Amino acid sequence: MQKSDIYKQSLLELEAILQDTNDSLTCMVTINAVLKQHLPYYYWVGFYLVKNGRLEVGPYQGTVGCLFVEFGKGVCGTSASKRQTLIVPDVHEFAGHIACDSRSQSEIVVPVIDQNNQLIAVFDVDSDQLEQFDEVDQVWLERIMARFFGEVGA
Ligand code: SME
Repeated sequence: MQKSDIYKQSLLELEAILQDTNDSLTCMVTINAVLKQHLPYYYWVGFYLVKNGRLEVGPYQGTVGCLFVEFGKGVCGTSASKRQTLIVPDVHEFAGHIACDSRSQSEIVVPVIDQNNQLIAVFDVDSDQLEQFDEVDQVWLERIMARFFGEVGA
């Protein structure tokens, strides 16, 4: 199965599971579980929440993550400051990358924007192999974040 098909199926599964809730914590834990289950190259998956003027660790699956990331620092903080998705094919080449787990090799971080155009979190996925993320991951993850956190009435 191509990964775009896996994402498509995962989104359908998420829409079915989450149809009766718009609670953000419920959405976050379920997104982590469904995507990590279906995408074999996911090593660490989770959310860093905008809280107390910085990013603070939220729901995740994987090895122990760093608790806090300042805006503008690391891949997560840079994505949050720019409100842009970042794809990092080799984390060792990213100046200021924050290594929570030395096995992480590549990473994608997607900003999570709510219905009021406020940044509420970033969604972070790490792989233990190089060059695992591309535009397919970006398009689908941005779509999934918009669907569950950005759309009015979602
Ligand atoms: N590597 C991230 C920090 C979070 S962990 O990967 C879970 C960064 O550079 O922002």
